[in-house]
Amino acid sequence: MPLAIGIHDLSFATSEFVLPHTALAAHNGTEIGKYHVGIGQESMSVPAADEDIVTLAATAAAPVIARHGSDRIRTVVLATESSIDQAKSAGVYVHSLLGLPSATRVVELKQACYGATAGLQFAIGLVQRDPSQQVLVIASDVSKYDLDSPGEATQGAAAVAMLVGADPGLVRIEDPSGLFTVDVMDFWRPNYRTTALVDGRESIGAYLQAVEGAWKDYSERGGHSLEQFAAFCYHQPFTKMAHKAHRHLLNYCSHDVHNDDVTRAVGRTTAYNRVIGNSYTASVYLGLAALLDQADDLTGERIGFLSYGSGSVAEFFGGTIVAGYQDRLRTEANIEAVSRRRPIDYVGYRELHEWAFPLDGGDHATPQQTTGPFRLSGISGHKRLYQAC
Ligand code: HMG
Repeated sequence: MPLAIGIHDLSFATSEFVLPHTALAAHNGTEIGKYHVGIGQESMSVPAADEDIVTLAATAAAPVIARHGSDRIRTVVLATESSIDQAKSAGVYVHSLLGLPSATRVVELKQACYGATAGLQFAIGLVQRDPSQQVLVIASDVSKYDLDSPGEATQGAAAVAMLVGADPGLVRIEDPSGLFTVDVMDFWRPNYRTTALVDGRESIGAYLQAVEGAWKDYSERGGHSLEQFAAFCYHQPFTKMAHKAHRHLLNYCSHDVHNDDVTRAVGRTTAYNRVIGNSYTASVYLGLAALLDQADDLTGERIGFLSYGSGSVAEFFGGTIVAGYQDRLRTEANIEAVSRRRPIDYVGYRELHEWAFPLDGGDHATPQQTTGPFRLSGISGHKRLYQAC
């Protein structure tokens, strides 16, 4: 019997503010149906000036440490594409804020929205080598496009923290994985830009091509058939994309495509993404959180995961929900993370979108905005300063 390894606990955090799509639509004259129905988004999380991927990551991970302690955690992997430093891992700041032991390896991973899945798979390898160890995998991102661009409606921000270990409490991750990589310029962000560049239509085509490629490899490696999955968690840059992706997969597998079947497969995974927006590498695991929180008993059911990161890398894999998982869910905290956000008006959102530290190396404090447990209090001599509140 192979060792069962997977996700033992999962917790997420999102930002202080939320911008409803009605406010964006009122500003740019878009018919609201395009947002609510066309892309399937209702609102997006907007970080305060004193929040970033570090504060989001620490906020997501703190409840995991509070529940399980840190004795068995020997590795922290922080996956992000909204990095705050070209050299130092954001994970080191998180390690410090959480008070983790110094005998820990910490590293940052990047491949667009795929990074957290790489982190999860690398973590499984580490646990395979020493099942007494656990790995804290954190996905944390702030999705940012230019103001008044088509991508603006698909922004968002969130972090998901997953404790990966042997004999997992939530999801046992299975072999094989289906892999797909191709060099494509569908979405990218050069180091000198704070906002991503994207060819919207090309990015949707590249995503669908990757779904096919990853599934093909998965099938050739002896993976399960579509009927053996109870639900599918797709990367969700906007929730309609999960529907498009699953419809594409059904077509590719020569299945009849009925809207009800597509909704049954992906509908329960979209609740958090619909109101948080694109959280890049955290998105597919927010989909898992929504599924676990919303579905009736999934014990013993197999879930499909399709992780896509522009550029592009994709992976399809399966996971089985383990007995007793419902006792370990954080449904109330998850709902609270979403509902505690304070609505911001369009002018306030625009100011935050353009907010940046001066680059002069001086001392600059951030305005006190977040009511979360950690904040970025300022910058001094080009060093970011964080504090637990
Ligand atoms: P757009 O040009 O603003 O919108 O771009 P559109 O004209 O394509 O309309 C969108 C949908 O709304 C269409 O449906 C319309 O018909 C419908 P579809 O044809 O796609 O089924 N529509 C309406 N529906 C109901 N009532 C109405 C109405 N009007 C129109 N009144 C786009 C949309 C998503 C391209 C844009 O927002 C964008 O560029 N977003 C960013 C890129 C993106 O999210 N790409 C997704 C795939 S790539 C990916 O997932 C990776 C990523 O997460 C990055 C990473 O990996 O790091 C982005």
